[in-house]
Amino acid sequence: MNQAKKTSPEALLSVRGLRVDIASKRILRSVDFHVDAGELVVVMGANGSGKSTLALALAGHPRYEVAGSAHLDGQDLLAMPVEARARAGLFLSFQAPPDIPGVKNNLFIRTALNSQRASRGEPEIDAFDFLGQAKGGAKRLGLPETMLSRPVNEGFSGGERKRNELLQLSLFKPRVALLDEIDSGLDVDGVRALVELIAAMRAEGTAFVVVSHYLHLIEMLQPTRVLRLHEGCIAESGDLQLARSITEQGFAAAAAPAAAVAGA
Ligand SMILES: Nc1ncnc2c1ncn2[C@@H]1O[C@H](COP(=O)(O)OP(=O)(O)OP(=O)(O)O)[C@@H](O)[C@H]1O
Ligand SMILES: [Mg+2]
Repeated sequence: MNQAKKTSPEALLSVRGLRVDIASKRILRSVDFHVDAGELVVVMGANGSGKSTLALALAGHPRYEVAGSAHLDGQDLLAMPVEARARAGLFLSFQAPPDIPGVKNNLFIRTALNSQRASRGEPEIDAFDFLGQAKGGAKRLGLPETMLSRPVNEGFSGGERKRNELLQLSLFKPRVALLDEIDSGLDVDGVRALVELIAAMRAEGTAFVVVSHYLHLIEMLQPTRVLRLHEGCIAESGDLQLARSITEQGFAAAAAPAAAVAGA
């Protein structure tokens, strides 16, 4: 079944027939989509439809049973351990970013950045230069500088956690960024900073997969495509009009598709 579906070698991220089981429960049946450099795909879907599962499976969640295929620039993502996926340029912003007690935020980010640089054959970033970049990034994102010297996310407010995810996004400059409800918890200034950062990074070629429930943000992001995840498949693929009709009518009103959309 999966073998019959051709991958799209030209797409930066190409997902075909992705199936995910968690604790023997099938969460995703067969997900197909692609995103290219500079594109932004929005994934919508009811609570529990599997959007976070999709993002976590692509990032390499260790306890998921995953089948099908996912390629990043032709590299077989599913065959790679989680850290190799990150080094290949995949970034995931968590729906609920976890605390990492005892690990200083700026050291965490610098270590991750240096690991990515090493995989590209680049030298370690100078600690002083890094601090300058991190402080500049934090300022642009409205994150108090003191957050850099605290343990990762420990005691951070909901919005501060999301801004800290955005700081990592801005410093890592990934090839593909999966943002899982990045807008939840952000205030209006945070949403504005988010939209500006995404636009600037798209112009530099980063591809985005953005999970969101909110039309206002989705409209501001000017997505390339909007996908609806339903019953473990991409049930619909469209443009902003799809996001608008979902917002107006709700997921329950959306007709179940006869078949999953292939090659969304
Ligand atoms: N570890 C787990 N064990 C059992 N079921 C799980 C596990 N993780 C996720 N699930 C189930 O998988 C389904 C999809 O969850 P997921 O978090 O991907 O949904 P979602 O689309 O991101 O929802 P939301 O919009 O609420 O964030 C849910 O029914 C959830 O309960
Ligand atoms: Mg979720």
